[in-house]
Amino acid sequence: MGLVGTIERRMREAQYRAATTAKVGWFSTFYVMGRHIVGPLTKPGEVPKPSKTPAPSLATMRAAFGQLFDDEWADIDRGVYRMPREFRERPDPFRSLSNARDYLREARAVAKRAHTPGGGVEVRERTSDDLPNYYRQNFHFQSDGWLSERSAKVYDTQVEVLFTGSADAMRRRALPFIAEEIRRLVREGRAESDIHFADVACGTGRLLSDVVDNFPDLSISAVDLSEPYLGEARRAAEGARNARFIGAPAEKLPFADGSVDILTTVYLFHELPPKVRREVAAEIARVLKPGGLYVHLDSVQYGDTSMDALLEGFPAAFHEPYYDSYCKEQLAELFGEAGLEPDGQRVGFLSKASAFRKR
Ligand SMILES: C[S@@+](CC[C@H](N)C(=O)[O-])C[C@H]1O[C@@H](n2cnc3c(N)ncnc32)[C@H](O)[C@@H]1O
Repeated sequence: MGLVGTIERRMREAQYRAATTAKVGWFSTFYVMGRHIVGPLTKPGEVPKPSKTPAPSLATMRAAFGQLFDDEWADIDRGVYRMPREFRERPDPFRSLSNARDYLREARAVAKRAHTPGGGVEVRERTSDDLPNYYRQNFHFQSDGWLSERSAKVYDTQVEVLFTGSADAMRRRALPFIAEEIRRLVREGRAESDIHFADVACGTGRLLSDVVDNFPDLSISAVDLSEPYLGEARRAAEGARNARFIGAPAEKLPFADGSVDILTTVYLFHELPPKVRREVAAEIARVLKPGGLYVHLDSVQYGDTSMDALLEGFPAAFHEPYYDSYCKEQLAELFGEAGLEPDGQRVGFLSKASAFRKR
């Protein structure tokens, strides 16, 4: 690489580092404010359970956090995917401030629910029982559960605050698997527009927007049970030339057998009861083409890192009723029983992308 190339590369790295540092600083500030508003992570009179594993040191957490961004930069530098749009474009300060204001307002409502015995299922009273019972909960103690525009609008900020600005970078640990697969299929002669990519439980479309930014011609199906979240996903995937947004359950996907090339789920499985996880795994295997790729991104599990104590405390503090059982789940077995074989893994801070191929 010549001098100009080296300078350009250094400048791009400086752009990435400056943007990620600013993002982490911004969301860390709201993390501290949010923790102050929510207060103790136990209900009144409840004694916190001692964790079975020692708490990770600050140095351990910092190293894992830094590694996530080092790994992402290495992928961008190698051209695996583009500099994320969020770091290419100038942030909109008014939007950031109004998101922060909504987050802080919502933190008060979260605190109330978190400190009320039995809090976290009030959404059941206001929602139709056409939806699965396990779904009708105020996950993370959030107002309206998954089922309102207000919830969909504040969700991205809540997740970024919780992970102090690392949530999108963690989601993007799925992207190298997806990008490499698309390029492989294109090398085999497939047109990008002929490749069927499905993001199941797409939520507000955070991963989707990065996929679209890199592969705007893909044939995309975005599925979620929440109409308000799908509405946000539609906006996030602006620029997609060939995308449809479908309200449907992951247990009954609206696709024919063997019709999907690449399927992703991001932060879905830890929200599902163990029995439903098996139904969804079977459904993923049903709709994938033989040789098709499934990329599963979710929390790290017990034993993946030396930060197990953080995972142990999470379910009660953040109303995650199925999280502990998810952290014990053997993914190779769960998906193996459905006919999917492990095909690689990437850990990024507190998340893990695991690839599986349909036999
Ligand atoms: C934790 S959010 C993750 C959303 C998104 N993938 C992301 O990365 O932020 C879980 C999402 O899964 C959806 N969801 C939960 N259970 C579902 C099911 N059985 N079928 C379809 N969507 C489901 C919720 O509506 C919500 O949008």
